[in-house]
Amino acid sequence: MRRVDPLLGTCALDTLRQRRSMKWRTYPADVLPAFVAEMDFDLAQPVIDAVTRALALGDSGYGHLGVLGEVFAGFAAGRLGWAPDPARVFAIPDVMSGLAEVVQALTPPGAGVVINPPVYPPFWFRFGFSGRRIVEAPLAVDSGGRYQLDPDALDRALAEPGVRAYLLCSPHNPTGSVWTREQLHTVADLCLRHDVALVVDEIHAPLVLAGAEYVPFLSIDHEMTARAFAFTSASKGWNIAGLKCGLVVSGSAAGDKLLAGRWEAFLPGHLGVLASVAAFTDGLPWLDAVRAQLDENRWLLRRLLAEQLPGARYQPPQASFLAWIDCRELGLDGDPAATFLERGRVALSPGGDFGRQGDGFARLNMGTSPGLLAEAVRRMAAATR
Ligand SMILES: Cc1ncc(COP(=O)(O)O)c(C=O)c1O
Repeated sequence: MRRVDPLLGTCALDTLRQRRSMKWRTYPADVLPAFVAEMDFDLAQPVIDAVTRALALGDSGYGHLGVLGEVFAGFAAGRLGWAPDPARVFAIPDVMSGLAEVVQALTPPGAGVVINPPVYPPFWFRFGFSGRRIVEAPLAVDSGGRYQLDPDALDRALAEPGVRAYLLCSPHNPTGSVWTREQLHTVADLCLRHDVALVVDEIHAPLVLAGAEYVPFLSIDHEMTARAFAFTSASKGWNIAGLKCGLVVSGSAAGDKLLAGRWEAFLPGHLGVLASVAAFTDGLPWLDAVRAQLDENRWLLRRLLAEQLPGARYQPPQASFLAWIDCRELGLDGDPAATFLERGRVALSPGGDFGRQGDGFARLNMGTSPGLLAEAVRRMAAATR
């Protein structure tokens, strides 16, 4: 196997086990963690420099947007084919709390929020904290095994009484699907017809992989963009979730007003802002090294599963580092992730956490070296014997 790009470090297990994040502290040391969405690579040097410089200065106060709007707009123009107005970009502590805040502002208590299962587990419970309820529009699987938006299911869900918002995950976690411009237009038409607000979680967009064309929702030519908010972050792309900074971009002056009115009660982490600025400006060579590694890993995983777990079904993702594996033909009882953990000592995310559509599936984190990815599959295979 090829060595990891020097920009990404070596992913040495003894060094990784010194980390104290959720990934490395949830399970005992004999378990290989491949669950929560943290990557194993060394951080981008510009990010390390920005944070250490701030700490050396005692610069650890409240977050200030600074040039974040401008540098994100520059990144979006260069990499995502989209030129948002920097004045429309607001910093938030993280994507989930930003989504919750905006959904709360846009909908009355008791309102329905549509999601597309199987989907990122907090989508299921986060909006319930403020008394909103979830309405399901499940994804469909096409003949090639790729998950797609199902316009009929979406139409039905948006028509349900009391539905006031739709949360689209783009690119989609855990399926790795990247939606086409045509699909986004269909979504926009349906939201407009049903008079429903649209919030789009684009957190995995920096990690779109070779061969997929990613379209930011607010870049499409459609009047629904004026009623939409796009959420993103450097937290997945550059592995800095713990620094607490996300971004929300509004699609209209009314949206700007809604966000501006919340700004002082809703500050991002200061170190997160500084790290995000460094990532969006000087972190592109590192990002490209990660994308190249993930591209290699997604095909390597296909080979390893075919060799060692031939009953597993997996469609390489079009974006990011999450592999959604159908384990229903492996002949395991109950939750496959529980079997992998108990008998193989490797921790994946249980598919059922993503909705009942995920029963019999498991999500594997591929944001690591080829060597550790191979070790994860070896442990999964051992668990099934
Ligand atoms: C689709 C999606 N949205 C949101 C998040 C969480 O982002 P944040 O930590 O900024 O809330 C994740 C984390 O993996 C995610 O996959």
